[in-house]
Amino acid sequence: MRREKNAALLGHNTFGIDVRCAEFIEYETTDELQELIRRGGLRNTLHIGAGSNLLFCADYDGCVVHSKIGGIEILGSKGDEVEIRVGAGVTFDHLIAHCIGQGLYGLENLSLIPGEVGASAVQNIGAYGAEAKDFIRRVEGIWLGSGEKFAMTNSECGYAYRRSIFKEELRSKAAITHVTFALNRNFVPRLEYGGIRQALVQNGYDEETLTAEQLRETIIGIRRQKLPDPDVQGNAGSFFMNPIVSDETFRRIEKENPDVPHYRGDDGVKIPAAWLIEQSGWKGRTLGRAAVHARQPLVLVNAGGATGDDILRLCEAVCKSVEERFGIRLKPEVNIIR
Ligand code: EPU
Repeated sequence: MRREKNAALLGHNTFGIDVRCAEFIEYETTDELQELIRRGGLRNTLHIGAGSNLLFCADYDGCVVHSKIGGIEILGSKGDEVEIRVGAGVTFDHLIAHCIGQGLYGLENLSLIPGEVGASAVQNIGAYGAEAKDFIRRVEGIWLGSGEKFAMTNSECGYAYRRSIFKEELRSKAAITHVTFALNRNFVPRLEYGGIRQALVQNGYDEETLTAEQLRETIIGIRRQKLPDPDVQGNAGSFFMNPIVSDETFRRIEKENPDVPHYRGDDGVKIPAAWLIEQSGWKGRTLGRAAVHARQPLVLVNAGGATGDDILRLCEAVCKSVEERFGIRLKPEVNIIR
């Protein structure tokens, strides 16, 4: 276990915000986490993963806690399906590379999403037609109040688009220690999401003979082309969620914008926030030390030395423009710590 008072958080958030916390604690096992709770050391705490979906707006006057629980363990298989139990502190992209190396498939479309396994189950990360919830079987963790263990099935986790019970009702009440995923020994590529097939052709790959490694490489290529590298320019991926609007709202927008991109789902019509932001004139624009990314306007970036407030000011300016133009209030996807 590592404990540090008055610790720097610069290396713990991909936005590159230079703030500090009263204490930083990193634990490596479930026992260590339970011990911390028993000793009453986890009050006023913020649990973080790799800090790739966080915006700190000020120094954190409390304890920031990070899980380094590792391990990737095969639990068993039924037919072609294999269950693997993974520690919350494992880097999600390492998990994908490891699984493909072991001939366990399913996670390819989530390649290169930054962050760790624990956070993937909180945030229900998703990209290119796949979401973490499609593979999550069970989530194990610790109640931060009592230190007791819990295990939840997929349906108990309340998963929806970028949503889970851990992000809402159980926020600050539970810490995830392990996630069990169901993967497959058969490689069944998911290629429906716009742009994947085109990118495969550009890479010279044939759909009929496609391997999981080739699909992973293609997804990584698409992400590198569209999304800024946080090591070069601080950011936390999509800053906003894609809004899901009612049919009525959609028809109103479509009347004035016949080409509005959209996806129909059970709960309404999803409109890409990137499109709304671009139409509102913000693509590539800078405000102070924060900017809207020029290739993917859904992403806000640290243009150099930005504070959390600089990013929030830009967030609010973008939201205001989108609301004035379309009557839709964008919601941040990033966890804003004020
Ligand atoms: N678009 C524009 N202008 C642009 C870029 C995009 O109008 O400059 C419109 C286009 O109509 C495009 C549509 O937005 O077809 C969708 O764009 P894209 O495929 O890049 O995906 P997204 O909906 O903007 C979501 C996720 C991303 C994920 C991609 C790919 C959210 C909030 N974001 O973005 O996730 O990588 O799909 O699946 O759902 C993240 O969560 O950090 C993240 C990057």
